[in-house]
Amino acid sequence: MRPGRRGGYASGVTDGDAVDGADVAGTADAVGAAGAIDWRGLNRANWDDRARVHLASEFYNLDGFRAGGSWLRPFEAAEAGDVTGKRLVHLQCHLGTDTLSWARNGALVTGLDFSAPAIEAARSLATSLGIDATFVTADVYDAVTALGGRRFDVVYTGIGALVWLPDMPRWAAVVAALLEPGGFLYLVEGHPFAQVLDDDQGTRVARDYFDDRPQVEDYPFTYTDGPPLEHPRSVQFQHPIGRIVTALADAGLRIDFLREHDFDTFQRYASLERRDGGYRFPPGRPRVPLLFSLRATRPA
Ligand SMILES: C[S@@+](CC[C@H](N)C(=O)[O-])C[C@H]1O[C@@H](n2cnc3c(N)ncnc32)[C@H](O)[C@@H]1O
Repeated sequence: MRPGRRGGYASGVTDGDAVDGADVAGTADAVGAAGAIDWRGLNRANWDDRARVHLASEFYNLDGFRAGGSWLRPFEAAEAGDVTGKRLVHLQCHLGTDTLSWARNGALVTGLDFSAPAIEAARSLATSLGIDATFVTADVYDAVTALGGRRFDVVYTGIGALVWLPDMPRWAAVVAALLEPGGFLYLVEGHPFAQVLDDDQGTRVARDYFDDRPQVEDYPFTYTDGPPLEHPRSVQFQHPIGRIVTALADAGLRIDFLREHDFDTFQRYASLERRDGGYRFPPGRPRVPLLFSLRATRPA
């Protein structure tokens, strides 16, 4: 994987510019600043390119996926519990590898993503595997309508999703509306604290944790192997953990757990070592959280 500060299944970075207009690090300001740029159009073009590159990448290894097995991280399947027979919607499902892994674990799956090439790839993967799955092309913020008002037992969102969304309260309201009473959100994400450390070793606080202004970035590659992108510009948003959790609570969900993990799924910093199924700080070095996972239930 190519390095980069947003490397958690997001872009590497060469130039990063916070967009003016949101000097106070508050959600309303950040959302206001996001309104000044076409974050959706830029990101969709960028992700359409990435999807085409990822399809052929060794990183996503779709032939390997066809050969079988679940591509979920072992802790994900354990934390979400038995999904057999559960209606699960995967928001920002990308090529559908994780979505179809949930299907292989017994869930009845739907995937949603705003990138048409990604959804085409996910559909074709499902067809080639004979897995009955529904894939829908839509923006997350339009998911309730795009999914025809259907409700789900589980909403799943995986690593590298939230940085593409400007507005956490609006996202949380969508999640709550998609859940059947008694259903739950299972979210796994890069920890926002890991985003503030320097890209190289992760030993210094190099960025403002509370800076949630839109970050416009130009980087000609994606995080996998493959050729340069035709649309290198993207817009990302950092969300402090408190804002994510508070948005979910405000949307009426009950937080069942919030776990912070001391490992990552890739070499985020050169200082991490591959150990015990993840990338970890060397023994004796102070640790910081690199991933978090959260489950939140819509009360019955
Ligand atoms: C980093 S990928 C998710 C990766 C996933 N965890 C995996 O490895 O398969 C992020 C996905 O979010 C999608 N995305 C970004 N912004 C979106 C939006 N506003 N609505 C729907 N999908 C979006 C992109 O098209 C991309 O497929």
